[in-house]
Amino acid sequence: MKIIRCKNYEEASKVAGEIISASIKTKPDIVLGLATGSSPIGTYKNLIQDYENNNISFKNVKTYNLDEYVGLDRQSPQSYYYFMNENLFDHIDINKENVHIPYAQANALEESCKKYSEALEKAVVDIQLLGIGANGHIGFNEPKTPFEQKTFIVNLTEKTREDNKRFFSSIDEVPTKAITMGIAEIMKAKKIILIATGKGKAEAVKRLLSKEITTDFPASALHLHQDVVVITDEEAMSLVNS
Ligand code: GLP
Repeated sequence: MKIIRCKNYEEASKVAGEIISASIKTKPDIVLGLATGSSPIGTYKNLIQDYENNNISFKNVKTYNLDEYVGLDRQSPQSYYYFMNENLFDHIDINKENVHIPYAQANALEESCKKYSEALEKAVVDIQLLGIGANGHIGFNEPKTPFEQKTFIVNLTEKTREDNKRFFSSIDEVPTKAITMGIAEIMKAKKIILIATGKGKAEAVKRLLSKEITTDFPASALHLHQDVVVITDEEAMSLVNS
C-alpha cells in the first residue's frame, strides 16, 4: 500500500486526477470503477478540466460504479445515478452506454444483484476509485462484510445513514438499504486509489494504516491487494505518527 500525503483536499484531488488522466492517455479504452461521496468530487472536476483542455477523451472509457441506494429512483437528486451525471458524465464525452451504475428495483433485489455481479465478472476494472466511510466501509460494504462478498443488498448502519444525512433534508429520508459491489469485486481491480481527506477521516486512516486485517474494518482488505494507492491530506493523517 502506497501512501501519498498531500497538503489538503485540492492537492489530493489533483494527484488522483493526474493518475487517472495519465492512465486514460496510455489506455483510451480504460475501465474505471467509480465512487460517489464528497471525496471524488474534486478528482472528477480535474478530469472534466483535462477533458475541456483537450488532454483526454472518455469516448472509449467504460465505467462501473460502486453502489446505489435502494428505494430512490434515478431522477432523485440524492441518487448516485444523478450524482454521477451531475459531477462527471454530463460534462465529458463519455458514451452513456459504457456507463454502469447498479440499480436495484424493489421487486427484484436479488436479480438486480445477480445482473450487476455478472457484468462485473466479465469486466476487468483497471482503476477502482474509492472513498472510505468513517467506520471503514468501502462502497457500502459495512463492518462484518466477508471479504469474499459479491454484489449484494446491504442494510446501512445507523452511523452511515447519519454520516450521509447531509445530502437529505432529514435522517428519515436516508434510505435504509443500498446495492453495493462486494469486497471481492472491488479487490479484482488491477489498481485501487482510495481518497481519504479531512479531519473526519483521521480515525479511519489511523486504523487503515495500523495494517490490522479484519472484517470489522472493511477497508483493511486492501492490504491484501498488490497495487493500492491511498491519497490523504494533513488532517486525515493527523492521528498517524510520522
Ligand atoms: C458513502 C459511499 C462511499 C463513500 C463514503 C464516504 O457511504 N457509499 O462510497 O466512500 O460515503 O463519503 P465521503 O467521501 O462523502 O466522505
